[in-house]
Formats: sequence, structure tokens, C-alpha cells
Amino acid sequence: MKRVIFKFAVIISILSLVFAVSACESEKEQAVAPGHSTSSQKVKQADGEKIKVGFTMDTLVEERWLRDRELFRDAVRALGADVEILAANGDDVLQIAHAESLISQGVDVLVVVPHNAEATATIVKKAHMAGIKVMAYDRLVKNADIDMYVSFDNEQVGELQAEAITQLVPKGRYVYIGGAITDNNAHLFKKGVFNVLQPYIDSGDITVVFDQWTKDWTPANAKENMRAALKANNNQIDAVICANDATAGGVIEALAEQGMAGKIPVSGQDAELAGVQRIVEGTQTMTVYKPLKELTQTAAKIAVQMAKGETVAINRKVNNGKIEVPSVLLPPIAVDRSNMDETIIADGFHSREDVYKK
Ligand code: GAL
Repeated sequence: MKRVIFKFAVIISILSLVFAVSACESEKEQAVAPGHSTSSQKVKQADGEKIKVGFTMDTLVEERWLRDRELFRDAVRALGADVEILAANGDDVLQIAHAESLISQGVDVLVVVPHNAEATATIVKKAHMAGIKVMAYDRLVKNADIDMYVSFDNEQVGELQAEAITQLVPKGRYVYIGGAITDNNAHLFKKGVFNVLQPYIDSGDITVVFDQWTKDWTPANAKENMRAALKANNNQIDAVICANDATAGGVIEALAEQGMAGKIPVSGQDAELAGVQRIVEGTQTMTVYKPLKELTQTAAKIAVQMAKGETVAINRKVNNGKIEVPSVLLPPIAVDRSNMDETIIADGFHSREDVYKK
């Protein structure tokens, strides 16, 4: 009897050991063969023909997207592959038509920056029917069997913004100027901001007196929202959390109309030149720098691996409402006057002359 119990105990401990190992495996970087089965996938055989990457972008309006386009193009070419890039100027129908054209050209992998997170799900379906894998770049495609997602940790972006502003204004009346409601990132930024604000709100120290999405991320819409916030609150505002530098620019114009620019803290994102110059002059408090060289090189490397049907190393899985998408998320960096030199300037993202206008 004792022998039976002893054997049983040994078996139990071995099993629990196995489970422990597999559990810690999930935290570490994982290697996956992204997406749906390779049997139906068009794998670029070593026939000497260059891999072709298709890249459909929402817009080139914000400064960063022009940089994404150039850097991604260079990174793909540096890997010996070709790339075709189309930008849809915020038009969902045009973006889908662009994707269809790239698919019919027989690209080996499709990379998408969605204008509308939901509307672009149809692009994934069309690509998979042609055996082409799809990567969501920077912004997630919702409710689709997307194969890969490469971006920054966008919730952390919002947390960095709120941490910087609450350090300066731990008590007071806040305005939140969000991004475009069609952009999944705007929801992640906002979630991050309220992760930090909620305890202050619960304690009654902070009141969010105005909270609005900004249609298509335009500075003009952000300016209108801020004018409405100031009017509705009789200019009794202590801080503004803006989702990016473009919207912060519109907000600061509205504050300037009331003689309040530089008097209350304002956050941003993207380290646009105008944004970092406002930080130097003191009308904007901070921005969130996202090293685009790293993003584009990571995305290009993974896109080519996907085209070859190779296994890809990921560091996260992100739920898009349908599946846990294999993902690589990079860390964003909070930047204000105190660390401008060792981040944005050190990386050559902007020159010292441009930032300090000297
Ligand atoms: C977001 C992006 C931001 C910002 C914005 C406006 O999706 O992550 O960097 O630029 O779009 O285009």
C-alpha cells in the first residue's frame, strides 16, 4: 500500500513540474508560424524571384506616416525584397480597392495600416482567399483572422501621457481630447490614460469635465472640441490630455485664443517637429516618442519572414475581438524638455537645429 501511495506521489510531482515549465514558457518570447495554415499560403519558393511586399496605408497627412513610408520602404529593400505602397487618404473604399489591387498583383504578404479598424476586416478575408498573409502595422484590424500585429505598446502610450500630466496637476479639472474613434489605437491610448486617472477620479481629486474623440485626428477638429470645452467650463480647465501632437497643436491654438497657452499642461504623441518645438517654447508639456526606425525594421523583417513561411518570434498576443493575434509590441518613450537630447536628437529623429530653432 505504502509503495502504491509513493508511486502515485511521484507521478503527481512529475506532472506538476511539466505544467510549471509550460506555464512559464508563455511569458517568454515565443516563436510562431503566424496565421492560417501554410498549405494554402503562397510561400515564396527560392526561385530567385524577389519577394514582393504590399503596404496599404490609411493616410500620409500626419508627419509620422511620411516617415513610416520612407523607412519601411528602405527596410524592405535592404532585405532584398520589393515593396509597393499605396495611401488611401482616409477613404475606406479606396483602401479596400488598394488592397484588392495589391492582392491581384500577387504580392507575397500584405501589410495594412487601417483607417477603419472594422472596415478593413474584409481585406484580410480577400487576402487569405488568395493565400496571402496579412500583418496589421501600428493599428490593429478588428474582428478578423489577422496573421500578425506589429506596433508599439499603445496602452502604455496613454499611461505615459497621464503620468506626466498628473505629476504636474494631481488635482483639478481635466479635458481629454482623444483620437479618431475608427482607430483602434485611439481606444488603447484612452484606456491607458484612464488606467492612471481613475484612482484620482475615484478620490475626487480629478474631474474629467470634457472627453471627446477627434474625427480623423485632424487639428481643426481638435481645436473645435477644445473651444467647446473652454466655453462649457468657462475656461476653468487645469490640464489637457491630447492623444497626439497633431491634436495638441489644435488644442493649443484654442488655448491661445483665451490667453491660456503655456499656462496649463498639455500632452501629445509622435514627437512631431512642431510638437517638440512647442515643448521647447513651453506651450506643450510632453510627447510620446515612438522610434519609427525600430518599428519599420521590425515590421519589414517579419513581413519577409511571413512571405517565406518562416517562424516569427513574437512577444505578445493581442485580442482583436475575434482571435489572439500574434504580436510584437515595442516600448514607447515619454519625452519632455529634460530628455529631448538623449532621445529624439540622439536618434537623429530631429536635428538639434530644428528642435531648438537655432
Ligand atoms: C495613430 C498612431 C499615432 C498617430 C495617429 C494619427 O494610430 O499610432 O502615432 O499618429 O494614428 O495618425
